[in-house]
Amino acid sequence: MDLLSARIDLDAIAHNTRLLKELVGPTQLMAVVKADGYGHGAGRVAGVMAENGADSFGVATLQEGLALRKAGVEKPILAWIWSPEQDLVEALAVRIQLGVPSVRHARALVDAGVPTRVTIKVDTGLHRSGVDEVDWVEVFTLLRDAEHITVTGLFSHLACADAPENPSNDRQAENFRRAIDLARELGLEVPVNHLCNSPGTLTRPDLHHELVRVGLSLYGLEPIPGLDHGLKPAMSWSGRIIAVKPIRPGESTSYGQTWTATEEGWLAVVPAGYADGIPRSWQGRLQVGIGGKLYPQVGRVCMDQIVVDLGANEFGVSPDDEAVIFGEGGMSADALAAATDTINYEIICTPTGRTTRIYEGGVQL
Ligand SMILES: Cc1ncc(COP(=O)(O)O)c(C=O)c1O
Repeated sequence: MDLLSARIDLDAIAHNTRLLKELVGPTQLMAVVKADGYGHGAGRVAGVMAENGADSFGVATLQEGLALRKAGVEKPILAWIWSPEQDLVEALAVRIQLGVPSVRHARALVDAGVPTRVTIKVDTGLHRSGVDEVDWVEVFTLLRDAEHITVTGLFSHLACADAPENPSNDRQAENFRRAIDLARELGLEVPVNHLCNSPGTLTRPDLHHELVRVGLSLYGLEPIPGLDHGLKPAMSWSGRIIAVKPIRPGESTSYGQTWTATEEGWLAVVPAGYADGIPRSWQGRLQVGIGGKLYPQVGRVCMDQIVVDLGANEFGVSPDDEAVIFGEGGMSADALAAATDTINYEIICTPTGRTTRIYEGGVQL
């Protein structure tokens, strides 16, 4: 029995992938599975996404790309965070395509002399990684003139896609269009270009270009609170209660005695703490689902445990009962994000440490 587990519903992943593929029509769907598939296990979810409409995969690092290939993913993989100082041989040998975010990166690939397919990442206003406009001509011509390099297209990333009304989206879209036009004037074909992540994909069909790069929505969460596209959340995180014990008025629980009982009651101890990803700052904001009812977490979050106030324990919560930290039967990732002043992206990346992933649905391996 696993004390702490993240259940991943592969049928939900399949449903979300099909739904998004249908929504974008003829546009290619790149499934973003960086950060181990947003915590869902990249290898397992990528297989399901590939079967249900994903045309290619996006990752951050070369290691993530290599892990996907080792898990049996055959479709194209684009990796966009790498250093020219890294050894690229292994990644290029298994056809990992690279995003080129600067002149330095472009030169490294030209010098490497190895046949490579690349996508140029242009900065259109995010001012993070991406080729600055002053360097567009240099990078486009460098890569155009290297016979061993095939440029598949350009890509860029929106700063405010989750605020569709923000005028910076249109400014970035115009800059992206200019970059494509310039690349073509300089003789690059750039057949497949992409700008949209999940919020861009869901709110700006006019910016889909030839491909969209979606992550969060494939895992069943809406990137903008309040939208509802019929996505199904794929992850829930829960622990097995290891103790249920009485507490009397005036007694406190956990380090620093920051919570004190005001009446006779019961506490449940759940084996998950900050070493497993629950930040100490969730104290008093998390509500844990047990038997379909929410109970407040109380006192300090410890390294390996949290404590939950069962009140009079009128529903007879017992050791070994499941305590849902988020997901089905507990707070949704959205509700927990709102309660802890963050975004649902961060919530699903929370389970770490001693959590075991349990896959449900899909084709069982
Ligand atoms: C460059 C890039 N493209 C696409 C995505 C996917 O974004 P989302 O999860 O909002 O779909 C990310 C994730 O942050 C990203 O860094």
